[in-house]
Amino acid sequence: MNQPKLEGLRLNVPAYLKHTRLISWVADIAALTEAKDVYWCDGSTEEYDRLCAQLVAAGTFKKLNPELRPNSYLAQSSPSDVARVEDRTYICSAKKEDAGPTNNWMDPAEMRRLLQTGETALFKGAMRGRTLYVVPFSMGPIGSPIAHIGVELSDSPYVAVNMKIMTRMGKAVLDVLGEDGHFVPCVHTVGAPLEAGQADVSWPCNDTKYIVHYPETQEIWSYGSGYGGNALLGKKCFALRIASTMGRDQGWLAEHMLVLGVTSPEGRKHHVAAAFPSACGKTNFAMLIPPAGFDGWKVTTIGDDIAWIKPGADGRLYAINPEAGYFGVAPGTNRLTNPNCMDSLNRDVIFTNVALTDDGDVWWEGMTDTPPAHCIDWQGKDWTPQIAKETGAKAAHPNARFTVAATNNPALDAEWDNPAGVPIDAFIFGGRRSTTVPLVTEARDWNEGVYMAATMGSETTAAAAGQQGVVRRDPFAMLPFMGYNMSDYFQHWLNLGAKLQASGATLPKIFCVNWFRKGADGKFVWPGYGDNMRVLKWMLERVEGQGQGEENLFGISPRYDDLTWTGLDFSKAQFEQVTAVDKAAWQTELGLHGELFQQLAYRLPAELTATKAALEKRLSA
Ligand code: GTP
Ligand code: SPV
Ligand code: MN
Repeated sequence: MNQPKLEGLRLNVPAYLKHTRLISWVADIAALTEAKDVYWCDGSTEEYDRLCAQLVAAGTFKKLNPELRPNSYLAQSSPSDVARVEDRTYICSAKKEDAGPTNNWMDPAEMRRLLQTGETALFKGAMRGRTLYVVPFSMGPIGSPIAHIGVELSDSPYVAVNMKIMTRMGKAVLDVLGEDGHFVPCVHTVGAPLEAGQADVSWPCNDTKYIVHYPETQEIWSYGSGYGGNALLGKKCFALRIASTMGRDQGWLAEHMLVLGVTSPEGRKHHVAAAFPSACGKTNFAMLIPPAGFDGWKVTTIGDDIAWIKPGADGRLYAINPEAGYFGVAPGTNRLTNPNCMDSLNRDVIFTNVALTDDGDVWWEGMTDTPPAHCIDWQGKDWTPQIAKETGAKAAHPNARFTVAATNNPALDAEWDNPAGVPIDAFIFGGRRSTTVPLVTEARDWNEGVYMAATMGSETTAAAAGQQGVVRRDPFAMLPFMGYNMSDYFQHWLNLGAKLQASGATLPKIFCVNWFRKGADGKFVWPGYGDNMRVLKWMLERVEGQGQGEENLFGISPRYDDLTWTGLDFSKAQFEQVTAVDKAAWQTELGLHGELFQQLAYRLPAELTATKAALEKRLSA
């Protein structure tokens, strides 16, 4: 059947596949990229094992010691390909103003010339000498009304095996597509064609990188990187950038949020969605184990990075996790800070850019107090504590990651893949701020919460290439992931709140948190991790109308005695250090809000400027 003629190339279309549009698109991309071969992923375990063995043979993967870390692999990337590349990420909407001032934009026709149609188009011949993997995937449970399907064509088997863990991937997705089902086409190449006889490298990539989205035609084209969000296109590219535009058009939200359930000792369950910027604590918060003194409390994970949130018939907001796995930050994770995460990583893991120990296991900074006497660092070099002391070399890259199935998480919520989602009681927004922003503040109403989220600042992390530790505005933790104009997105949130309120529904409360205030010694004052439960409990008490607090300049905050301190020695003076509001610092902060609003002035909702004016008035009173 439908085997378009391609010189020297067999499409290898599986006999069961009847989707002619999909087949001819694969044929077109194979022809454009001059792939050597086409392989259709079925998503089976047999296939996963086979591709992993192939990656081991190619030198991309090292198989870890099966006694210590069963069924697990380590990949070490090119040192030039270790994080998302925000300056190479484009939203190519027809109109520039629809991408907005926070996104890189190029005219779609111009971008297509550059990537596909021009004389020297980057995708032309980009897969020469490589196999094109057809990776059908579902974001959300396969076949559920809330799910969306994508097909990623990639010349990276590393991408194929990661997609198997991160999404529902394989033949079952093609079955749902049937003969004519809708899918989001995602094209990915590492941009490293192999000429005849040319030996491959263990991590092919290209110094030129393009991560491109066409929101109107819902297409994703990614060139030159094999790493994380640049290459696993179901994640940031689809489930956030493209999905955010779907949400704008259809009245729902695609957010950079974890979703968790909290059950009280009395058995009352609440659900919370929290947006923290990249490498600012979502995975850890989603897997939180309540500290000593919180007997009977339980936190369960629905998702750790992305939430799709839709209004239900009852006027409440329901969230699903469109992913099936975690692509989480390894450094800093250990048995004390996050036992659930460590247990998730006991087996069946792909590690990328952590260190390899002499007994064939993995290590990263912060995993143990005492580092191994020797290991092979993420760049394949010898590493010892002495070398680290002398050169500052890290054993693991700060953005080293693990890929693991959600089902490995011992704290996985029973409802984690319920297509109906879970009802959200509170939204939390939090940045990484060593100064200025207090531990927790509750917004007095929806619009004030939207203002807090919109003006959130955070210190940049290793999750994106570029300078680290610089405070920048990261509205809703979505700055790198917005598929459209940021001001329109603010308006979308305001509209949704107004609509739900008009229907008589109780809106989720909105809180702003900061786990990262530092003392004069440069150390975090707040213990964080499991102890964040203390703040979470207070928020839920507020949701239930029980918790006490004090109104201040920005909203409502707990006093020392409003939090539960059982099991923790945290003095009033320390509490003061993480909650104090410095007027001068906030004057500066509001100046930064002002700069953001200037940048976003076009179509900025008036509610936000009004909220800012009210805050300024209070601050100067
Ligand atoms: P992305 O996957 O990039 O979106 O990140 P994330 O938001 O899921 O961040 P994650 O939970 O992986 O945490 C990133 C880093 O922050 C890790 O090194 C953690 O150990 C550290 N971290 C997480 N929570 C806390 C906290 O409460 N306090 C402190 N001090 N560090 C934390
Ligand atoms: C992030 O950077 O927010 C991540 C990792 O979750 S990546 O998938 O690489 O975007
Ligand atoms: Mn993320």
